[in-house]
Amino acid sequence: MAPSTSSAITLNINGEKFTLTVDHRTTLLDALRERLDLTGTKKGCDQGQCGACTVLLDGRRAVSCLQLAVAAEGREITTIEGVAEGERLHPVQQAFLDLDGFQCGYCTPGQICSAVAVIQEHAAGWPSAVTDDVRPEAGPPPLTDDEIRERMSGNLCRCGAYVSIVQAVARAAASEEQPKGAAA
Ligand code: FES
Ligand code: FES
Repeated sequence: MAPSTSSAITLNINGEKFTLTVDHRTTLLDALRERLDLTGTKKGCDQGQCGACTVLLDGRRAVSCLQLAVAAEGREITTIEGVAEGERLHPVQQAFLDLDGFQCGYCTPGQICSAVAVIQEHAAGWPSAVTDDVRPEAGPPPLTDDEIRERMSGNLCRCGAYVSIVQAVARAAASEEQPKGAAA
């Protein structure tokens, strides 16, 4: 008997469980968009280059076009649809709106998911490639524009809304509200 090329899986997305049968080659991005109608996550390059498909897996950023859906079983998946608290926008979403951190909006879900995790990564003391003092005892570096640009560099914007995106991430990071969905 030929080995099966599909499996039934249960995905935990935005706190809800979804059971579906997928071909083993199905990416998480295609499962979200084509099978579960969670079309907030965007497909740009489909090869890990643009960040449009960024989601959070167990609170950490991941490009869903490079994740197999079957490998995401058992993980806590947060998509742009799960970032807000009901009707209340996440501080990052609010900052993008207030500061026009977008033009066409295609890259925006990925930018926002990335920014949610960036703020948590920074608060947890993770250094970036532009951090001067990477000693653990140095603590988190100031979240300068250069730090934000470096940490968000995996998310491309064809509209070039980068100036406003950096401002939005800085404002959200400075807000006292705790972002939801990202790992501590
Ligand atoms: S669509 Fe996944 S990185 Fe571009
Ligand atoms: S807002 Fe259009 S691609 Fe970023």
